[in-house]
Amino acid sequence: MAAKRSIVVDTDPGIDDALAIFLACASPELDIRAITTVAGNVGINRTTRNALQLIGLAGRSGIPVHRGADRPLRGTWTTIEDIHGQNGLGGVTLPGATGAESGPAVDALIALLGSAGPDSITMVLIGPQTNLALALRRKPEIARAIGEIVVMGGSLDPAGGNTTRFAEFNIHVDPLAAEIVLKAGRPMIWAPLEVARQASIDPLWLDLLRAVDRPCAAAAADMLDFYIRSFSRGAALYDPLTILALLAPELFDLRAVALEIDASETETAGQTRFRPGAGDGRIRVAASCKADRVRTLLLDRLAAL
Ligand code: BDR
Ligand code: CA
Repeated sequence: MAAKRSIVVDTDPGIDDALAIFLACASPELDIRAITTVAGNVGINRTTRNALQLIGLAGRSGIPVHRGADRPLRGTWTTIEDIHGQNGLGGVTLPGATGAESGPAVDALIALLGSAGPDSITMVLIGPQTNLALALRRKPEIARAIGEIVVMGGSLDPAGGNTTRFAEFNIHVDPLAAEIVLKAGRPMIWAPLEVARQASIDPLWLDLLRAVDRPCAAAAADMLDFYIRSFSRGAALYDPLTILALLAPELFDLRAVALEIDASETETAGQTRFRPGAGDGRIRVAASCKADRVRTLLLDRLAAL
């Protein structure tokens, strides 16, 4: 088997984050070196507790979980319990965590990246990007250890946001952080709103998941029962796309782009401006995906966990 890819998952669970964490745990190709939590979908106490409980249920309590930023670099943000439930997991009660929190996220990122070889770590960013931005601000040289940054965020359509007309949630919560991460100059893959919508799941897919008689699949199905209600048609499973793009890049149409992030405090704050065909090839965005195969891969992996 090829060498495992070392990843750090930076996350705000969050129902779709929970699916991404399960998927990563179910993927032998990946070595999850750490999970860092951030405030986003819900507050930091809940995202951190949820991360611990999720890896506990997946039988992976050995993965260090580090509590991260409790707010964006600038200003405040609004949590979205209407989509993720009061506890961030659609009201689903998971068994208590078997592991305890490790040290603070920014210190952990600096230590992990600071001691890793060049290009050896893949950062998976599926929440506001505050933690990595803080770490890069404190020690810019840690960027060299990052081989790739895989982001769920932004929209291809500059007026196609899900939080404001112009901005997607993760980038809107902390545009300044996203700009700092972008300017670190590392290779990036972006999974924007449009590709997540294309790979939406529907009640039939949920039935298939529910038919899997395993604890994580059952918990995921219960959470998705709640989540799917906030969508009029199929539910966009945003965050797992990052892991899926690592596992099966051939399922995604990745296009080289130039990217600008609006870090202003105006009404367009958090807007992502992708320019296809421009840039130096360092940044790629998933323009579309083979949706059926993406959904099948997700289901197969969850069924094996
Ligand atoms: C992103 O925002 C959050 O609500 C989801 O977890 C996902 O990371 C989608 O806009
Ligand atoms: Ca998220």
